[in-house]
Amino acid sequence: MTTTVFTGIAELTTHADADPDAGAVADAALVVADGRVAWTGPLSQAPDADERVDLGGRAVIPGFVDSHAHLVFAGDRAQEFAARMTGTPYSAGGIRTTVAATRAASDDALRANLKRLTDEMLRQGTTTVECKSGYGLTVEDEARALRLAREQVEAVTYLGAHVVPAEYKERPEEYVDLVKGAMLDACAPYADYADVFCERGAFDAEQTREILTAAQAKGLDLRLHANQLGNGPGVQLAVEFGAASADHCTFLDDKDIAALAGSQTVATLLPGVEFSTRSPYPDARRLLEAGATVAIATDCNPGSCYTTSMPFCIAVAVRDMHMSPAEALWAATVGGAKALRRDDIGHLGVGARADFAVLDAPSYIHLAYRPGVPLVHRVWKNGTPAG
Ligand code: NIG
Ligand code: FE
Repeated sequence: MTTTVFTGIAELTTHADADPDAGAVADAALVVADGRVAWTGPLSQAPDADERVDLGGRAVIPGFVDSHAHLVFAGDRAQEFAARMTGTPYSAGGIRTTVAATRAASDDALRANLKRLTDEMLRQGTTTVECKSGYGLTVEDEARALRLAREQVEAVTYLGAHVVPAEYKERPEEYVDLVKGAMLDACAPYADYADVFCERGAFDAEQTREILTAAQAKGLDLRLHANQLGNGPGVQLAVEFGAASADHCTFLDDKDIAALAGSQTVATLLPGVEFSTRSPYPDARRLLEAGATVAIATDCNPGSCYTTSMPFCIAVAVRDMHMSPAEALWAATVGGAKALRRDDIGHLGVGARADFAVLDAPSYIHLAYRPGVPLVHRVWKNGTPAG
């Protein structure tokens, strides 16, 4: 077994300690063995290793865990974005445009688009990706999306309940029956999680409950699109069902915050969505101060937020959601891992998977301090240079 010691680390953030403010080690070293972190600490105390890699005085952070993305789709909605920026509000209905384009696309076209997006993610420091279906909305197209996602990402989520497709517009209950019946049967073998867009214009509380109950009975873990476009029952349902994560959390009342704080359900914030839909930002400070576990993810999709960049989301979370740079980095790494119920990624404690990003900067603070600048110098995944 070859061991490698990484030197020339101006600042190493391991998050081995649960406290996001625990800080980073200056002039550090990191030893990797067998794709795992074997040792971290001050360079002066680093043990010998077979190989040495000098990182040239850069900061090292855990690879980002992007716990919420929709990457199996065709086409884009640039015109919808342009209209939104001049006043047309975002609505759930735009999803149907992407559904039509996705159904018409070949497997290879969808694969190539997914690869393009996950490559973008990797170049920006993301080493673990979650990806949902939700632009197929037939039994075959949803199962296809999940099968294709499974080829390229680690965490896969069945989102047949993204929106009621046009052909079921007059009979939404029949669509709900399909989502929790034949479609679930076809999709469950490819999925880790099930998700529902619980929102006005998508699925109501009763429909959400039915779908979550069926998915849970099938052995899927749960996540939920909750409280994105207005106050609603999504967060409460996520907590009630013990979902891994309640995502968006843009509109929360006191009860929602208390429910999240008293639960194992992670509040996953998607600051790129508020940015790209010009919506109010979620109250991250209240969530943090109440003791909720907070994650940050991109929600990359062609409608509400077409970014693959976790550094961009961190910058927005710091600037507009008033998270500290340390809280935002933690949420984008450990927080994302918790939202996927993983403890082997998102940190660089001994035994963790050696997934890390080397920044062209002396400190992780630059991720927010230098918005829009491509600061990720190199990425290692499983202890191997990636990309
Ligand atoms: O997370 N909210 C639902 N789904 C996506 C948007 C999908 C779309 O607009 O195509 C989201 O924002
Ligand atoms: Fe989403």
